[in-house]
Amino acid sequence: MATKGLILAGGKGTRLYPLTHIFSKQLQPVYDKPMIYYPLSTLMLGGIKDILIISTPIDTPNYEKLLGDGSQWGINLEYVVQESPAGLPQAFILGEDFINKEQSCLILGDNIFYGKLDFLRNGLKENLGGTIFAYKVENPQEYGVVEFNKEKIVISIEEKPNEPKSNFAIPGLYIFDENVSNYSKNLKPSKRGELEITDLQKIYLAEEKLNVQQISRGVAWLDTGTPGSLLDAANFIQAIEKRQGLKIACLEEIALLMNFINMEEYENTVNNLPNCDYKNYCLKILKEI
Ligand code: DAU
Repeated sequence: MATKGLILAGGKGTRLYPLTHIFSKQLQPVYDKPMIYYPLSTLMLGGIKDILIISTPIDTPNYEKLLGDGSQWGINLEYVVQESPAGLPQAFILGEDFINKEQSCLILGDNIFYGKLDFLRNGLKENLGGTIFAYKVENPQEYGVVEFNKEKIVISIEEKPNEPKSNFAIPGLYIFDENVSNYSKNLKPSKRGELEITDLQKIYLAEEKLNVQQISRGVAWLDTGTPGSLLDAANFIQAIEKRQGLKIACLEEIALLMNFINMEEYENTVNNLPNCDYKNYCLKILKEI
């Protein structure tokens, strides 16, 4: 069964003001690419080809301009507007028709993963209800936090607790079965007036259908929430790209690697790029294959 992908790229981005006064957060550069390239590349590397991008009324046309219909990468991109940031589970309500009662995978447009993505591929293959991930961080109070007992069974999930019960944050990457839109519609807004993704996770937990997979320390999950962490993420990407001579989240390269496009289509896509380092990289890859 094909999984439907969703990228949530709206919100107010107030923590990055004035950067975000004109351009939405997920359009900001992370070294040499717009931020949204990274979560899009994560879904593509997970084998997902049908992807819905959700953003604000003002920003959605910019995403359409940037990414188009996805055919240049052999994928299908669709767009839907979120009128106001009413919470992450709204993605599954706005995306109900697009999801069409299949499994779906939501990634937040500001979440960057680097490393072996087997955890995602296995999660997509083995999901029986909900699959979320846990990643050890120094500042769990800024995230959804999951607590395990000694048998690694989940005993609690809390959204941004003042006193976190563990150091395991829940990254913005979630896999849910066909019930997710209905469950989301039944959620009530929290005290801060939003539908909470952790409340959705708790429904699957109560049904004993929530799988929480720990992501190993060999994978980097980067934060982009503040000017400092945005710069750190850019420096991280630059350091790896410079060292290896390989690009992270080059969508053309990933499309070819995943067999979403063949060599001829790759050449067409790359020839349409303006002359720049990014194009030179795509041409260089061609010679190395
Ligand atoms: O990054 C992982 C964390 O993401 C999780 O650990 C938390 O459980 C989850 O609630 C979320 O926390 P954030 O503090 O990052 O949530 P925030 O409200 O900042 O929204 C995350 C992104 O989604 C942000 O880039 C804006 C976008 N967004 C947010 C909301 C509420 C939307 O596009 N629409 C929305 O309605």
